[in-house]
Amino acid sequence: MPSSTTPAPLSGAAPRGRGGNRLAGRGARIELIDLSKRYGDFAAVDEVSLVVEPGEFMTLLGPSGSGKTTTLNIVAGFVGPTSGSLKVDGAAIESTPAHKRDMGVVFQHYALFPHLTVAENIAYPLKRRGIPKARRAELIGTALDTVHLGEYGHRYPRELSGGQQQRVAVARAIVYSPRVLLMDEPLGALDKKLRDWLQLEIKRIHAQLGTTFVYVTHDQEEALVLSDRIAVFNHGRIEQVGPAGELYERPGTLFVAKFLGESTVLRGDTTRDGDGSAVGVCARTLRAPGHIEGPRAAIIVRPERLAVRPAGDRPEPGWNALPATVAGEIYLGSSRKLELTLPDGSPALVREQAGALSDVRKGDEVTLTWRVEDSVLLPDDPDVEAVFT
Ligand SMILES: Nc1ncnc2c1ncn2[C@@H]1O[C@H](COP(=O)(O)OP(=O)(O)O)[C@@H](O)[C@H]1O
Ligand SMILES: [Mg+2]
Repeated sequence: MPSSTTPAPLSGAAPRGRGGNRLAGRGARIELIDLSKRYGDFAAVDEVSLVVEPGEFMTLLGPSGSGKTTTLNIVAGFVGPTSGSLKVDGAAIESTPAHKRDMGVVFQHYALFPHLTVAENIAYPLKRRGIPKARRAELIGTALDTVHLGEYGHRYPRELSGGQQQRVAVARAIVYSPRVLLMDEPLGALDKKLRDWLQLEIKRIHAQLGTTFVYVTHDQEEALVLSDRIAVFNHGRIEQVGPAGELYERPGTLFVAKFLGESTVLRGDTTRDGDGSAVGVCARTLRAPGHIEGPRAAIIVRPERLAVRPAGDRPEPGWNALPATVAGEIYLGSSRKLELTLPDGSPALVREQAGALSDVRKGDEVTLTWRVEDSVLLPDDPDVEAVFT
């Protein structure tokens, strides 16, 4: 990982282990109960309920404008909810001002004081809390060590790179050992390589401190790397909460399936079929576990669950099949993506691992096939486009 453009290697960290760091403290339990924030008729946050367990890394994931920042700001105390309640370790805190909530906050823009050195910036929250000078110096040293900037205390923010400034912002947020750390797209202004490295740093700091983290991002990969659980936001509401694997394998809505990972969406009319469901797609009958009450359904299949076979192959028992045409292929080194077109013109996406590539080429007629049990059956949602990313 280390190169001329990456900062100090991770392996250089002096691991103190959970609880061994002098800034470590037990994380708080946060409860959001039916929280709403209205601006006139518009609900920026619409009856959001969520429990974040002590020490958990919870990510609020969703597209721009879905209410993530407003929700985080309600937790921080910067925005008052229109209705609903908020508890920390069981105590209601709606009327507690932000600076008394014992929460550290890191924003996308570093918000460091330009006229203060790094050490003075980090001293700021300690001074506000009346911590004596000798103790302050000790805490600042520990915070800077935690973000691997031990030697940078005397510098000014303008003498630091963007990634270093953001690490100072993290040090300032953790220096008084808050029981909650709130971060709003903290890596959003940084380039990809630095972002990837700092994601691992944030994960390490979380493990080291044991603080409860609530992290906002619109980047699904970032959410996958960091989170214990992810809450997927859409139009001010939470569509689903769960560990990444659960959201990926068992998305509860078409929106979640589309927002987290790639998938092929097969839409059609539903018919009941014994213990499962049948969905008519492209004049074929596809089968899926579970059943849908409404007349329209969507079957979601992840790209690694789909396979191509020669045209005209009949499906084995327990498998679904559709005719398709290969519209393109994307070579990705460790895998290959095949873009297919179904008879109704809709797209399908297959991912094949290197070493297990089929010999199909662009323009070939094929049979697209997958196991019935790899089909996720959901009610159709006309608001979600049938694209696979
Ligand atoms: N102070 C405000 N006045 C009016 N509308 C707002 C205000 N703050 C946020 N909104 C609106 O609320 C919605 C959610 O915003 P936000 O929570 O910032 O979304 P996200 O962080 O997911 O991008 C957006 O449509 C935004 O324009
Ligand atoms: Mg935001």
